[in-house]
Amino acid sequence: MWGPEGLDEVEAELLGPPEELKGKAVLEIGAGAAQCARWLAAQGARPVALDLSHRQLQHALRIGGSFPLVCADAGALPFADETFDLACSAYGALPFVADPVLVLREVRRVLRPGGRFVFSVTHPIRWAFPDEPGPQGLSVSASYFDRTPYVEQYIENGEGRAVYVEHHRTLGDRVRDIVTAGLRLVDLVEPEWPAWNTAEWGGWSPLRGNLIPGTAIFVCVRD
Ligand SMILES: C[S@@+](CC[C@H](N)C(=O)[O-])C[C@H]1O[C@@H](n2cnc3c(N)ncnc32)[C@H](O)[C@@H]1O
Repeated sequence: MWGPEGLDEVEAELLGPPEELKGKAVLEIGAGAAQCARWLAAQGARPVALDLSHRQLQHALRIGGSFPLVCADAGALPFADETFDLACSAYGALPFVADPVLVLREVRRVLRPGGRFVFSVTHPIRWAFPDEPGPQGLSVSASYFDRTPYVEQYIENGEGRAVYVEHHRTLGDRVRDIVTAGLRLVDLVEPEWPAWNTAEWGGWSPLRGNLIPGTAIFVCVRD
């Protein structure tokens, strides 16, 4: 699943035709509970699920699957050059790192020539709107151009410690990051909100989804 709209890889085929996934070495970045890796394994691919969070990987282990789980930072991938045929990430790592070019360079390094990296992030336009599913979420409340990160802190003894951080990149920033990292952008998919999806979750809702995009999916190739 690429995002809250519900677009899945069966429908999107952004990693290529399903029959060609068989036997492919695929790196899932920011895998969380490794839903994508599990689906890839079911298609006959050879996925590796990577996440910074040990806790998330414990969930992956509990749910199961016979593929490796790797606890590591996407900015320092513990793999040799040209290890993978494909890489993917559904809202993993990239929205949360201050230096996305570092991650993209690492992904390029571990991909074989001709390899593809498909990643989804919150659509940059969402930054300008409040995170509300209802009508309050339809008026611009912040600058799209303000790159100040969103930070949640845990305060202890008067000292704050960041426990959740989201970094904003404009659409132009994302394109520039991809090009700077040496990848070629071949598609930018903005999934539309489908009629069947009546779910409301955080700032995600049919009301907003019908008016503004919520997810941006970048399809990149290592030439
Ligand atoms: C929004 S979750 C997405 C999880 C999963 N891909 C999914 O579709 O449900 C983001 C994940 O990225 C991971 N993450 C954040 N920063 C990371 C980093 N620097 N390196 C690797 N993983 C990271 C988090 O631990 C979290 O599991």
